[in-house]
Amino acid sequence: MLIPGCGSGYEVVAFTQAGHEVHAIDFSRPAVARARQPSGSGAGRTDYRGGDFFTHDFAPASFDFIYERTFLCARPVAWRARIVQRNGELRKARGSLLGIYFSGETTEGPPHGLSSAAAAALFPPPFTFTLDLPLPDEESLPIFKGSERWQERYRGH
Ligand SMILES: C[S@@+](CC[C@H](N)C(=O)[O-])C[C@H]1O[C@@H](n2cnc3c(N)ncnc32)[C@H](O)[C@@H]1O
Repeated sequence: MLIPGCGSGYEVVAFTQAGHEVHAIDFSRPAVARARQPSGSGAGRTDYRGGDFFTHDFAPASFDFIYERTFLCARPVAWRARIVQRNGELRKARGSLLGIYFSGETTEGPPHGLSSAAAAALFPPPFTFTLDLPLPDEESLPIFKGSERWQERYRGH
């Protein structure tokens, strides 16, 4: 699994403890330095990188899952297609995109909400939803409350 824009990495810990091999990157080196190392039995493996998601050489890794939370919405709207393209370069052919996406309307951002219409344009067929669920309010920071969804997509053939 790859986590772009992992920040200080609470989700890295969760996925690693669930047994995944997690590669996480953030270009904020202080955030990566603060990131917690998972512990506990049955844990997977974690590899934190300080660097730029767009240019970092992840070879030989290619990923079954690319997970994100507040990465796409924190970047300028004009960067969205570039993020999707980069995900495509790093994902295995049958790999999935998953994450918690912010769909709220904002007059200025970041965060920039991804409306369902914008998501449909960004992930046209053969992208397919495998899961699209509202996030319980108590799981969101106040700014995101009521407007976050857990979504999973893969690109069919
Ligand atoms: C809003 S934070 C989200 C952090 C974490 N995912 C969370 O939910 O708490 C966005 C993160 O993306 C990182 N970021 C932005 N552009 C990046 C890039 N090109 N490469 C790597 N990290 C990037 C920022 O440094 C920041 O830590």
